[in-house]
Amino acid sequence: MIQVQNVTLSYGDRTVLHDISLTLSERRIAIIGANGSGKSSFARLLNGLVLPTSGDVLIDGQNTRTHGKDIRQKVGFVFQNPDNQIVFPVVEEDLAFGMKNLGFSKEDITRKTDEILARYDMSDLREHPAHLLSGGQKQLLAISGVLVMEPAYVVMDEPTTLLDLRNKRRVARAVDAIDQTVIFVSHDLDLLHDFDRVVVFDEGRVIADDTPAKAIPLYMDRMS
Ligand SMILES: Nc1ncnc2c1ncn2[C@@H]1O[C@H](COP(=O)(O)OP(=O)(O)OP(=O)(O)O)[C@@H](O)[C@H]1O
Ligand SMILES: [Mg+2]
Repeated sequence: MIQVQNVTLSYGDRTVLHDISLTLSERRIAIIGANGSGKSSFARLLNGLVLPTSGDVLIDGQNTRTHGKDIRQKVGFVFQNPDNQIVFPVVEEDLAFGMKNLGFSKEDITRKTDEILARYDMSDLREHPAHLLSGGQKQLLAISGVLVMEPAYVVMDEPTTLLDLRNKRRVARAVDAIDQTVIFVSHDLDLLHDFDRVVVFDEGRVIADDTPAKAIPLYMDRMS
């Protein structure tokens, strides 16, 4: 369970999240809201990448202030920009890196690399230079790199922005197949209809927290 308790986040004298309290335990939780409403800032709090200015974030009872290292293993994070995530020059090395760090065996690393590349039709890109992938392929690689580590929670910050329709659907299906809790920040409202819960941010505050059928129309009204 993820508990966000009275969290305020300020950058300098600018407050971008105002006293947010949420308990996240459903399997599929979407975060939506206008540009600049604080979604990425909120997402980054969940794995301790950013610490609250006041208040606390607890992951299975552990505070991100004191258990950052454990929490970064437990909460996988897919960045909005895949270039922030891809660190190795070759696709398969990039996928293997996180698994090596976690002590996966060589056989497991090979098997999981094969599986995930096949799932996204990227098997022939195994030895491809990562920086030469297309934007969408980079996004798939960044998502793959997180999923192969099997984190207990997965936070995805707009993981489908660069993808064509087929790959958007693939990612949606991949998200669907994950057993863990997924927190999915997105402007792709079409992908969210089966979610358990949709939280709507507006200027650093939660203005709706409901089923997709209720929260999405409310957000669309607000945007029109
Ligand atoms: N590191 C930072 N330093 C200063 N201000 C920041 C920083 N990161 C975000 N902000 C500001 O915080 C506010 C919220 O930004 P955030 O990136 O969380 O929004 P968002 O909802 O993810 O927007 P988008 O839909 O465009 O991705 C914005 O006004 C932004 O300028
Ligand atoms: Mg963002």
